[in-house]
Amino acid sequence: MTTSHQFFCVIANGLEQAVQMELQSLGLPAYPSTGGVYTRLTDVEVSLLTQMRTPTAIRWQLLNGRAVRSLSDFRTLLDNLDWSVFPQGVDWKLKVSTRKSKLNRSDILEDKANRLFRSVFGKPQPNSSRLPIQIRVFENKLWVSVALHDRPLHQRGWRHQNVKTPIRENWAQCLLWLAGCTQSSPILDPFCGSGTILIEAGRRFANQPIFEGSPWIFSTWNTSWQEGRFTTTDVPRLLGSDRDEPSVQKAKQNANQAKCTMNVVVSNVRKLTTEHFVDCPQTGIVVCNPPYGMGSGKKTDAVYHWLGETHRTYFAGWELYFIATDPHKARLVSKTASSVAQFSNAGIPVTFYKA
Ligand SMILES: C[S@@+](CC[C@H](N)C(=O)[O-])C[C@H]1O[C@@H](n2cnc3c(N)ncnc32)[C@H](O)[C@@H]1O
Repeated sequence: MTTSHQFFCVIANGLEQAVQMELQSLGLPAYPSTGGVYTRLTDVEVSLLTQMRTPTAIRWQLLNGRAVRSLSDFRTLLDNLDWSVFPQGVDWKLKVSTRKSKLNRSDILEDKANRLFRSVFGKPQPNSSRLPIQIRVFENKLWVSVALHDRPLHQRGWRHQNVKTPIRENWAQCLLWLAGCTQSSPILDPFCGSGTILIEAGRRFANQPIFEGSPWIFSTWNTSWQEGRFTTTDVPRLLGSDRDEPSVQKAKQNANQAKCTMNVVVSNVRKLTTEHFVDCPQTGIVVCNPPYGMGSGKKTDAVYHWLGETHRTYFAGWELYFIATDPHKARLVSKTASSVAQFSNAGIPVTFYKA
């Protein structure tokens, strides 16, 4: 009999559909929930999980919503899990939360769990691998999960140059999925900043490895799980611009680091034309994250107006997807802009629109 395991692919609320699309593209089952998507996989399929670019985290669900009403239930449920999968001397890191439950003292639950882990794993050994364990009690049900990695998955390793407001790498991937970008669609980001959207597109469509330095920690576990392999292919045209010269330099340096070929130029969106790019394609997909003006307090209405004008005048054959903080800005781009997804970027509620 083949054993299967349940995993939860974590993503910001509102972007679950992109993770679902990516799972399905890999032929994997996808059961969306709030803040992520569940999947159930056999051991050999785990390598496909490590090829996912959209999740912020991937957790192995050891227990999923089991009834828990007393400390003794809690202890029994934890005891009955097979902790021998993880190596002795592992450096476990425990996070416990409880809400709306009879077991309402997270400190007591943490203490109980730590005692159990000390007895099963022994003392953490110097230089031992990390094991991030999460215990969650909600409405008298218990969830226990273990992250498959030692750092958040948006930390890819290619970003050596930063700007003030970069979009998270895995969220850029979500936008590309939601905009329906494919290997054959040229992509333009006229607010490219440090180049995140274009670089993530380039790496995805060239099937380049996601990370520089593996974040996966399961190689020391008693499982047969393997990391996926990547075979690189061709990429679509990647075009970018930004009015800020230093940002364009940073985008170029990041692209070099990420081994990504793209054309990036300095231009205000108001002045951008197809002439900025040699042999500019007639069609493609614009995907962008214009300035919100929240931090700077600057009015950004004109930027949205000019995004719409430039699109209609020079890039009319291109589809346009953009982020905006409110419907007023979206309508400055296009009277018919419609919402594709809503999420929160650095605490700011935003909508991803199709023009
Ligand atoms: C939210 S940031 C984009 C960040 C980018 N997605 C990244 O991950 O680095 C907005 C960018 O728009 C640029 N920008 C602001 N006004 C502009 C304009 N009128 N024309 C072109 N670029 C502009 C800023 O320089 C900034 O880099």
